[in-house]
Amino acid sequence: MKEYINIALPKGRLGEKVYGMLESAGYECPSIREENRKLIFENEEKGVRYFWVKPSDVAIYVERGAADIGIAGKDILAEYSPDVFELLDLKTGVCRMAVAAKKDFRDDRERPLRVATKFTNCATRFYASKGREIDIIHLNGSIELAPILGLSDVIVDIVETGKTLRENDLCVVETLFPISARLIANKSSFRFKSGEIETLVSSLGKVIEAKEETK
Ligand code: PRP
Repeated sequence: MKEYINIALPKGRLGEKVYGMLESAGYECPSIREENRKLIFENEEKGVRYFWVKPSDVAIYVERGAADIGIAGKDILAEYSPDVFELLDLKTGVCRMAVAAKKDFRDDRERPLRVATKFTNCATRFYASKGREIDIIHLNGSIELAPILGLSDVIVDIVETGKTLRENDLCVVETLFPISARLIANKSSFRFKSGEIETLVSSLGKVIEAKEETK
């Protein structure tokens, strides 16, 4: 009997784009395109079952084996360090993790730097590597507000087009690392469904290469 590959897709624009790539790679599941609120879709013939998952939860589903593979941003992987295999860079969802501040920001090294972020582990590691003492302020969203209201000196956040920063009179101070979507796999699924997963990775790899060539 053919084994299903269970795939956690990040809900939203990135997930839809990645589903399109999986479709091109031969893993289509037409019911997923229907307008409804279902969260699980399968195509028995292709042996795939897709789940729509909150983007920041994809790595948890994969780490714990509820999904065999999934698509997660490098930001989430860097922040939570899930125990999974990273198999492929999908070269989409490209952005960067950066430090940003008000345009007139000057670092006063006499006191800890107040850093507001959703990515506390990334920020803590980054400043520890520079030997800079910080006061970390964990926020859940609208991080750009923090320096404007004087809650923090800087933010560590995702910058894609830079529009959010520009429209709030903030600018990038430095970049921590580049981000893109990655295909991740559960470690034991990778062993027990190696044939199925490797075939998918190779077909998806070809779709990514073809897309890169037309860029
Ligand atoms: C992210 C990030 C920035 C914005 C950057 O927010 O936190 O606010 O995108 O994109 P830009 O450089 O293209 O303007 P997201 O939309 O994920 O929502 P959030 O406020 O919940 O973080």
